[in-house]
Amino acid sequence: MKEEIKEFYSKVAEGEFEGFTEIDVNESPEAENASKHLISLGCDYPLQDIEVEGNEKVLELGSGGGINCFITSQLVPNGEVVGLDFSGEMAVKAQKDINDLKIENIHFVVGDAENIPFQKNTFDIIFTNCVLNLIKKEKAIKSIKKILKPTGHAYFSEIIVNKDIPGKLRKDISMVVTCLAGANTQKELQEKLNQNGLEIKETQNKERILSMEPEGLEFHKVRITAKHIN
Ligand SMILES: C[S@@+](CC[C@H](N)C(=O)[O-])C[C@H]1O[C@@H](n2cnc3c(N)ncnc32)[C@H](O)[C@@H]1O
Repeated sequence: MKEEIKEFYSKVAEGEFEGFTEIDVNESPEAENASKHLISLGCDYPLQDIEVEGNEKVLELGSGGGINCFITSQLVPNGEVVGLDFSGEMAVKAQKDINDLKIENIHFVVGDAENIPFQKNTFDIIFTNCVLNLIKKEKAIKSIKKILKPTGHAYFSEIIVNKDIPGKLRKDISMVVTCLAGANTQKELQEKLNQNGLEIKETQNKERILSMEPEGLEFHKVRITAKHIN
């Protein structure tokens, strides 16, 4: 499935599909302007309410068209924002669009969120917006723990489900690429975080995005804040 996911998002970068969700951008005119230029594919920006010094080093995993990195660069004007995506087409498009907006503290790298290509203890903040359901969560969480500074925090905005997804739907490619097929229940997701080295500080349940009858599946957004287990 990994190659199919990469191919899908590379086609999105090349303009074959429209962004399929709207991100809640903050209200600055710059953010509104940027949202007209950058592809938005996530479900919810997870750093909305956090407190920062403004000089943090931040990594977004699965950064897509770069909209979350753009918003984050306003949060940390004296810091640095890195977006990582395994689709080269996506990373190149995001970098071009950000360069056009003349933002200097963001850069994009091509890499796999399951094996993040950075040194131990590099980032103050690591976040995702609708990505964990596309990847092997255990590998990604272990990799996050390694490159997150011991004082740092990880933030996740992801989709969860109310019960087990039947096998046939888990393999449905349209469910896979839209981040539904890989969803876990909230309890399972929390356990995966805990068992792979991150302690949960806060979980905020957000609105339902979809119900599927007759399977009885309900998909919700969730925001989780985590830190190292000491
Ligand atoms: C649903 S989109 C979300 C994009 C972005 N976070 C946003 O909010 O617009 C998922 C992104 O994750 C990327 N992705 C999927 N699997 C990945 C992996 N193993 N490593 C890095 N990026 C991955 C895709 O290429 C795509 O750009």
